Amino acid sequence: MNLELASKVVVISGGAKGIGEAITISFAAEGAVACILGRNPVEAEELCARVAEDGGRAEFFACELTDENAVREVVGVIFKKYGRIDCVVNNAGVNDGAGLSSGVEAFRESLEKNIVHCFVLVQAAMDALIASRGSVVNVGSKCASTGQGGTSGYVASKGAMNALTREWAIDFAPHGVRVNCVIPAEVMTPMYQKWIASRPDPSGALAAIEQTIPLGQRMTTAREIADAVVFAASPRSSHTTGQIIYVDGGYTHLDRAVTTKGAAK
Ligand SMILES: NC(=O)c1ccc[n+]([C@@H]2O[C@H](COP(=O)([O-])OP(=O)(O)OC[C@H]3O[C@@H](n4cnc5c(N)ncnc54)[C@H](O)[C@@H]3O)[C@@H](O)[C@H]2O)c1
Repeated sequence: MNLELASKVVVISGGAKGIGEAITISFAAEGAVACILGRNPVEAEELCARVAEDGGRAEFFACELTDENAVREVVGVIFKKYGRIDCVVNNAGVNDGAGLSSGVEAFRESLEKNIVHCFVLVQAAMDALIASRGSVVNVGSKCASTGQGGTSGYVASKGAMNALTREWAIDFAPHGVRVNCVIPAEVMTPMYQKWIASRPDPSGALAAIEQTIPLGQRMTTAREIADAVVFAASPRSSHTTGQIIYVDGGYTHLDRAVTTKGAAK
C-alpha cells in the first residue's frame, strides 16, 4: 500500500527516543520529512544520521516542550523552512509519578509535561494543518481507561488526550483535518525500562506483566505502535477521525480469565 506520505512534513514531539524514535523511522521510511522536537540533541542527531544513511529525511529541532514560546517558535521555524506542515504527532510524555500524595504543584507540573504542550503544539500548527488538510495523531496510554495508581497527573493528562482527540476531530472536521489517538499499553522503551527498574523485582514484574497480555504474552514493539501512528496519519486513513485505537495485544479490553496463558479455558 502506498501511504501517500512522500515529502509530507511531520512534526513529532519526543521523536528521538523510544516510541517517538520508531515513529520517526517509520515516517522517514515512507518518504516523509520527520521533524523531531526534543531536548536532547545528541540522541536526536545520531538518529537523524541513521535515517539519512537509510535514504530518509529527519531533522532535529531543539525544544523544551513545557516552554510555550519555544514550541510556537519552533513550529514557525519548521513552517518557514518547509512551507507546510502535514501532520503533528503528540508523542512526548512522562509517567512521572505525580500522585495524590505528591501535592497539587506536582500535579500541575505533570499536566504541563503531559498535556498542555499538546494543546500548544496543535494550536501553533493549526493554520498549517488546515492549509494542508493534514492530520493529528496523539499517543495516549491505556491508563486513561484502567488507572494505574500513584500517577494522577499523567493519568489525568492521558484522559484529557482521549477527550481532546474527539474535541479536535470536531473542531477540524470542517477543514478536512483528521485527529486520532493511538494507545500503547506495555512497550519496552527507555521510559518503561526506568519504570520497571524501580519495581522491587524488575524481571519478575516484567514476566508477570507479559503473562497478562492476551496476544502472544509479549510486550508490544515500538514499531507496532509507530506503524499504527503512521497509517492513522496518512491520507490512506482518509475517513477515520476521532478514533482511539488500542495497539496493545488486547491488554486493555480482552477478558484475561479466558485469554491469559495458563488461565482456565
Ligand atoms: N512505553 C510504554 O509502555 C508506554 C505505555 C503507554 C503510553 N506511552 C506513551 O508513549 C509516549 C512515548 O513514551 P516512551 O515510552 O517512548 O517515552 P521515552 O521517555 O522513552 O521517550 C520520550 C521522549 O520524549 C522526550 N520528551 C518528553 N518530555 C519532553 C519535554 N517536555 N520536552 C522535550 N522533550 C520531551 C524525551 O526526552 C524522550 O526523548 C508517551 O506519551 C507515553 O506516555 C508509553
